[in-house]
Amino acid sequence: MADIARIDPHDDAALRAWFGVEQASIRADRPQALSRTYAALATAVRHPSPYVDRPLLAAVEGGATVGVAEVELTTQDNLHLAELAIHVHPDHRRRGIGRALHDAAEEIRRAAGRSTVVGELLVADGNDDPAGMAFARALGFGSVHQEEHLVLPLPVDPAGLPPPPAVTAYEIVIWRDRCPDEHVAAFCAMRTQMGRDVPVGEVAYEPPVIDEERLRSSEERTRRAYHRIVAAARRREDGEMAGYSVVFLAHDDHEALQDDTLVMPDHRGHRLGLRLKLATLEVLGREHPDRRMLHTWSDRENHAMYRTNVAIGYRRAEVLHEMQREDPS
Ligand SMILES: CC(C)(COP(=O)(O)OP(=O)(O)OC[C@H]1O[C@@H](n2cnc3c(N)ncnc32)[C@H](O)[C@@H]1OP(=O)(O)O)[C@@H](O)C(=O)NCCC(=O)NCCS
Repeated sequence: MADIARIDPHDDAALRAWFGVEQASIRADRPQALSRTYAALATAVRHPSPYVDRPLLAAVEGGATVGVAEVELTTQDNLHLAELAIHVHPDHRRRGIGRALHDAAEEIRRAAGRSTVVGELLVADGNDDPAGMAFARALGFGSVHQEEHLVLPLPVDPAGLPPPPAVTAYEIVIWRDRCPDEHVAAFCAMRTQMGRDVPVGEVAYEPPVIDEERLRSSEERTRRAYHRIVAAARRREDGEMAGYSVVFLAHDDHEALQDDTLVMPDHRGHRLGLRLKLATLEVLGREHPDRRMLHTWSDRENHAMYRTNVAIGYRRAEVLHEMQREDPS
């Protein structure tokens, strides 16, 4: 049976073996996955955020890594919560390795005093019997929220895009890795609002307040592995920020991620969501012509955002289930 131990993130051979198993597992089940680069993983664990602890576990058998787990413990908010991801190499499944990794992760989360565990399960379209769902159910997890993983092949032909809404009351401001000082307060307020407004179903997650310190800390860490494009809408009349959309691009990769898009409550109804996404797409096409696929996640019940994504040409590739289990109180 495999030995399970925590790995030292500065041990390059161990971290590369860990990453190799994660990637082999993802490739086996999910042809359209958006997966991180090695540089992104190494940055996350070697330059840790002050807001998250991220122990990595490896299951090693005869000197080879055969399974991996990642536990995420936020340190300043959501202290009841632990996030968990488990991958077993496709050649080593159904031998109890996944369960053994889960049990080792359980020790970590109990020692940290967390009562709730959540994990993301991504199911490729057409896979009617995902191992991950059977595994998670066998361990007592239930699906408490679903989103669709949508993909848009790049480059996008501008002729196929909906025309940008002609709303002259707002202008678009673009920045990249670092938010200009003059927009920090507004960007933090919008990021905090995003946490409150994005649907999370029954996931027991309390969105934190994003302040300048947290924003700058995440920008410093993110820029080590990602380029970022931010488009924000500003009302011309009074300079008030009305919304934003963000794209992340891992260095040395062909993928791109359209992450948050938010229009602030008082500014909804002007199709600013579409305008913001089109603005990020324009910069993406011009500055990163090497990218081949843009990914995003959207709740089907979030009608305005979902319709905007379909109009741009996104199509569904996977369904994301947030799997959750809470200790009995
Ligand atoms: C899910 C995964 C981690 C399971 O790893 P594993 O080592 O094969 O799991 P185990 O052998 O410990 O199985 C534990 C239990 O899960 C259930 N299970 C696991 N795979 C299953 C499958 N393909 N079909 C039905 N049940 C399954 C069974 O109840 C099993 O117990 P049993 O073998 O005594 O019947 C592995 O398939 C994987 O890496 N999948 C891709 C990533 C993923 O989906 N991770 C989980 C996200 S929540």
